[in-house]
Amino acid sequence: MSITGARVAIIGSGTIGLSFAALHLKHTASLITIYDTRPDLEDYVHRTLPTYVADHSDLERVRIATSLQDAVETASIVQEAGPENVAFKSSLWPEVEQHCRPDALLWSSTSGIPASAQSMRMKTPSRLLVVHPYNPPHLMPLLEVVPGKQLDEDVIARTLSYWEALGRKPVVVRKECTGFVANRLAFALLREAIHIVDEGVVSVEELDRVVETSMGPRWSVWGPFKSYHAGGGKGGLQAFFDKIGGTVQDCWSDVGQVNRGGGWEEQVFRQCEDAYGEVDVAQRDRITKKILAVIEKEKAQLP
Ligand SMILES: NC(=O)c1ccc[n+]([C@@H]2O[C@H](COP(=O)([O-])OP(=O)(O)OC[C@H]3O[C@@H](n4cnc5c(N)ncnc54)[C@H](O)[C@@H]3O)[C@@H](O)[C@H]2O)c1
Repeated sequence: MSITGARVAIIGSGTIGLSFAALHLKHTASLITIYDTRPDLEDYVHRTLPTYVADHSDLERVRIATSLQDAVETASIVQEAGPENVAFKSSLWPEVEQHCRPDALLWSSTSGIPASAQSMRMKTPSRLLVVHPYNPPHLMPLLEVVPGKQLDEDVIARTLSYWEALGRKPVVVRKECTGFVANRLAFALLREAIHIVDEGVVSVEELDRVVETSMGPRWSVWGPFKSYHAGGGKGGLQAFFDKIGGTVQDCWSDVGQVNRGGGWEEQVFRQCEDAYGEVDVAQRDRITKKILAVIEKEKAQLP
């Protein structure tokens, strides 16, 4: 699909919707239409979107829609980033389908409501894809593209080509599963982090320092498989398990099964609050941008 000629309708302009709007504005010449039910929408968008967009002349391509129909009827892409509940999403799509172009791509940003659950009342459920970002999407290259049980390969191919043209790194998740892939991995680590702090092994701040000075930087270069394949030396991942597989198994056997509502909550939440209070996400984004730029430049030079 031509990315310069795209018309993007953003439905829901909170944290994710505005960040996606900024991404489309930066990398395309698209017109962006924003629809949201909040009463102060126009004022809020004019106040907030400039904080995501470096070139303020891009903002001239943004229009506030007066209704859902107005937002989607000329759109080539409809990207939903509204509330995370199945009632909202499953009632939205039949209405979008009724008013949008027959070739429009329909994407949901959901963190966990599968396309199959959202599309149940649609005429053509295979039109809908989950396109799950890693926050904030105007910086993070990953998009998890998750079709429902009924899928249309042409819709998937057009979706991938759009994001690849924007320099993003979409991954097709071929089986609908809770939390998709990135959050499953992140939450597995979070669970063990909570367990370790709850056991009194290290504090919240010390655990963060461990991650920031070890697997954090390493995994932004190579993922866990390539890293441990390298860690095994000659013989790769199999050699790694031959050498320290016993310790790996001991850690897996000892892994923490902490759950929501458990006794850990009060002290871990308090430690976090005491250590960090209100965090500066602008600082996170500034540094993340620099790290991603270095990685992109270095990887582009590889043979
Ligand atoms: N925040 C994250 O880290 C993150 C990451 C990945 C995916 N997501 C997903 O993105 C989606 C949006 O999350 P968010 O964090 O931006 O939420 P948010 O609460 O910041 O924004 C949601 C927006 O939807 C608007 N809204 C409410 N009802 C609406 C309606 N009927 N029609 C149109 N707009 C309506 C709200 O006014 C609000 O501006 C969710 O599905 C969430 O799971 C969030």
